[in-house]
Amino acid sequence: MSQFAFPETFLWGAATSAHQVEGNNIRNDWWKWEEEGRFSDRSGKACDHWNRFREDFKLAKSLRHNAHRFSIEWSRIEPEEGYFDPEALEHYREVIRSLKSNGLEPVVTLFHFTLPLWLAREGGWLSARAPELFKRFTAKVVEVLGGEVSYWVTLNEPVVYVFKSYLAGDWPPGERSYEKAYLVFVHLLKAHVLAYDAIKDSIAILNPEKARVGIAQHVSFFSPCYTDSWKDKLSVWLRNLIFNHLFVKALIRGRIFYPGIFRIRLRRSKTLDFIGLNYYTRSFVHNRGLRIPGIYGDICPVGHHPDVIRRNSLAWEIYPLGFFQLVKDFSRYKLPILIAENGICTRQDSERSQFIVDHLRELGRAIEWGAPVIGYFYWSLLDNYEWADGFEPRFGLIEVNYKTQERTIRPSALLYAEICKTGVLPVSI
Ligand code: FCB
Repeated sequence: MSQFAFPETFLWGAATSAHQVEGNNIRNDWWKWEEEGRFSDRSGKACDHWNRFREDFKLAKSLRHNAHRFSIEWSRIEPEEGYFDPEALEHYREVIRSLKSNGLEPVVTLFHFTLPLWLAREGGWLSARAPELFKRFTAKVVEVLGGEVSYWVTLNEPVVYVFKSYLAGDWPPGERSYEKAYLVFVHLLKAHVLAYDAIKDSIAILNPEKARVGIAQHVSFFSPCYTDSWKDKLSVWLRNLIFNHLFVKALIRGRIFYPGIFRIRLRRSKTLDFIGLNYYTRSFVHNRGLRIPGIYGDICPVGHHPDVIRRNSLAWEIYPLGFFQLVKDFSRYKLPILIAENGICTRQDSERSQFIVDHLRELGRAIEWGAPVIGYFYWSLLDNYEWADGFEPRFGLIEVNYKTQERTIRPSALLYAEICKTGVLPVSI
């Protein structure tokens, strides 16, 4: 395995999202919640990446990355309904220019958890207009930036978003309703299909060969809490279907029908050119009955599970084998797979080095097996604002001093740089 070389055309890089790094995204729903004191930390200036992106991309280049994933902040582009801010558009044009001049292939995400306040006030993704509004925003972005971008991620982790924002109530708008969650799920699917067409139509004029469109799907490896419980296994199967596969399946097939649970029909099928996967951890599932919602099971706390050996600083289990299994599993769709996020938060940087090598080893095994993987993006380039968990978790290849905004390259970043450069894993780890 130590001899394995990743494909020469492989995309190597790191990912960020606008609200987590830019700073001062004052016109979105997250900022509003932060103002209301709902979280312990406020994003504030974050990494001031809005002003420092050139410096950050130079660092990425020096770390031998050849690609970079970032998101465009809708609330900056369209601060009021129907008004598209030329300065914000120009800013992102400059971001892409800067990436290109550093030899970094841009991978652009259009929705990464934050909504413009005007839309949030109208009901956000619950609004029947949301898919069309997302399409209009997408079309505008593509009109201005499209000629330079080959990889588009319409939605980041739609199912996580639905869960956190509409079932658990942890993220804005803080809803806890199955009906609303279902509706948002459907609207997100529709939004993707509309955005897919908008990107394809517009790029057909600019550069027909270029646009590849996907989503970034969060995948978790599910294991039964009790290995000999058939009920736990049933819940594992259902979780895997709903949490990992359903959204992707719906986009590929154009419809999903599971009696009594899902009945969705989209305008058309096959609106994924690649599948983005975000992988972090394994979860143990414990069944709570044979009806909804008990059949979905509960997540049993990892701390209590005897199989758990390593965890990150947010107590998520580190389980590289799950990465191998899931990448293999998603190969069934016969679409290129882009690892859009994979990373660890830790204050012990040697754990990050180990994490990267262990996960890339599993990814290499999956590729050798035949998985069509085209790239890997470590989460994240910089330490950043980890949503409800604030600034405490440290995910970055590059450390950020939030007082001075000083950047310091961590040793793990250098190790990753060597892998990006050679396409080969170090033997010694
Ligand atoms: C993912 C999110 C990303 C980041 C990482 C740690 O679920 O897409 O923004 O928060 O987790």
